[in-house]
Amino acid sequence: MTRLPLLATACLLSFWGGQPAAAQPAIGTPAPAYAPSVGQTGKDVVWVPTHQELVDRMLDMAKVTAEDYVVDLGSGDGRTVITAARRGARAHGIEYNPDLVALSQRNAQAAGVAGRATFAQGDIFQSDFSDATVVTLFLLQTLNERLRPTLLAMKPGTRVVSNTFTMGDWEADQSFERDGQCTSFCRAYLWIIPARAGGAWRLGEEGRLTLDQTFQMLSGTLTREGRELPLSEARMTGDRITFTAGGQRYSGTLEGDRIAGRIEGGGAWSATRAAR
Ligand SMILES: C[S@@+](CC[C@H](N)C(=O)[O-])C[C@H]1O[C@@H](n2cnc3c(N)ncnc32)[C@H](O)[C@@H]1O
Repeated sequence: MTRLPLLATACLLSFWGGQPAAAQPAIGTPAPAYAPSVGQTGKDVVWVPTHQELVDRMLDMAKVTAEDYVVDLGSGDGRTVITAARRGARAHGIEYNPDLVALSQRNAQAAGVAGRATFAQGDIFQSDFSDATVVTLFLLQTLNERLRPTLLAMKPGTRVVSNTFTMGDWEADQSFERDGQCTSFCRAYLWIIPARAGGAWRLGEEGRLTLDQTFQMLSGTLTREGRELPLSEARMTGDRITFTAGGQRYSGTLEGDRIAGRIEGGGAWSATRAAR
């Protein structure tokens, strides 16, 4: 025997632990059930499950109903998807680890919601989830920020909820914190994808609304009857606009190039997008 085959034999023996072949499990013996361990490596972030109380809160914050299509990015053992499906929603998980995907599918089957709770093995940064009405996240701030342009391009009104991690300078529309018993991963944040309202709008013949938009926050002026009034408390909530100008509270809905709404205690108002 030459030196190389001897070395290969030694390596193989140490791989098998030097056990004779008879010590290996017999063919046909079921493999032990896969059990993930908290903190195990994932592609871009480790696996840590969201506490069930926070899963419930996140879905409450997003006001998930049977009309929704919920997508969990990095779906782990499938708990968020399964909880959403239990509420009657269609729900889908995208998970890189194929063992976690198979475990989620078994969990959905056991929960009796496999028809509404589906899972796919894939990279969240290479997957299309543009038809989701609710996106759930438990990633990292850096990953949330990488997803931000994709999320902001989704249909206005889409809700995004995240366990613990923020979106950097995109302020949340709402947040929640679990009670004093909770020591880690206790917060959830909600963002509502805002319609794009920035620019100039015409109100009738004379009036003009000028909006500067940063995420859901608005600033600008309303010019009516020759007076330029600064806006305060101005924001988008999905396709809904609200602001105060000249002591009056305006609200309305943006659809395409038109806003229509009401002035509190007053009449209706409408605006059309001015040519750019
Ligand atoms: C912190 S765990 C959250 C699991 C689950 N969403 C929950 O809240 O219980 C993050 C999950 O993302 C998965 N993951 C990491 N990077 C990923 C990627 N690029 N694409 C898909 N899944 C990924 C990990 O395997 C892990 O299961």
